[in-house]
Amino acid sequence: LRRGGRAPDLAGRRVVISAGGTREAIDPVRFIGNHSSGKQGYALARTAAARGAEVTLVAANVALPDPAGVRVVPVESALDLADAMEAERRGADAVVMSAAVADFRPAASAASKIKKDGSAPAPVELVENPDVLAGLVASRDREGLAQTVVGFAAETDDVLANGRAKLARKGCDLLVVNQVGGGRAFGTEDNQAVVLGPDGTAVEIPRGPKEDLADRVWDLVAERLPD
Ligand code: CTP
Ligand code: CA
Repeated sequence: LRRGGRAPDLAGRRVVISAGGTREAIDPVRFIGNHSSGKQGYALARTAAARGAEVTLVAANVALPDPAGVRVVPVESALDLADAMEAERRGADAVVMSAAVADFRPAASAASKIKKDGSAPAPVELVENPDVLAGLVASRDREGLAQTVVGFAAETDDVLANGRAKLARKGCDLLVVNQVGGGRAFGTEDNQAVVLGPDGTAVEIPRGPKEDLADRVWDLVAERLPD
């Protein structure tokens, strides 16, 4: 255990974490993607395992080694990730959506590689992906389960106001809001955030290693778990 050892306060709990960034196929060789490295999600998986949880990590296109003792379910697209999360959430005590899910995908993926033919390129028509996080909250509410659902958000401008509005829209129990821009968050080793809850909770987590942020998130989740 790190830092002198933590009590295994998540022993007997099952947690499901999504990490990385989805890829939305344009053709067999091209995709629309994003810069998410998966580091924050992997830190959440490592710290939960260190605190005794049984951990499933749904990993979208992450180039990191599998954390020891964690079950990794690889996915590619937002639709894959939605299916995997809906399957894995069953019976879980906590579900954390740290993956960067593409908001849009190409309406159709070409079966063959798209070739140049000297004329203007065809536009790529996009359609909206399902909101996985909102779907997980809806599934939880439908079943009336005591399952803690956590979202992440990267915001610019009025970070707190945007975060509060997003928390209300998604209906999750905690929203971890990162401020982005100026080299923060994507691919970096450090992270800083404010964690919002519907009861008005706003916990500031100072800039530090992604493991520290992960441990603070698990502290807040652990407080909300039923005995
Ligand atoms: N998310 C999701 N499914 C989507 C988009 C986002 O589950 N189709 C999740 C992310 O994993 C994250 C949270 O929702 O936990 C917030 O993502 P974000 O992109 O900030 O929210 P959006 O609702 O997509 O809003 P925006 O227009 O600001 O991108
Ligand atoms: Ca989005």
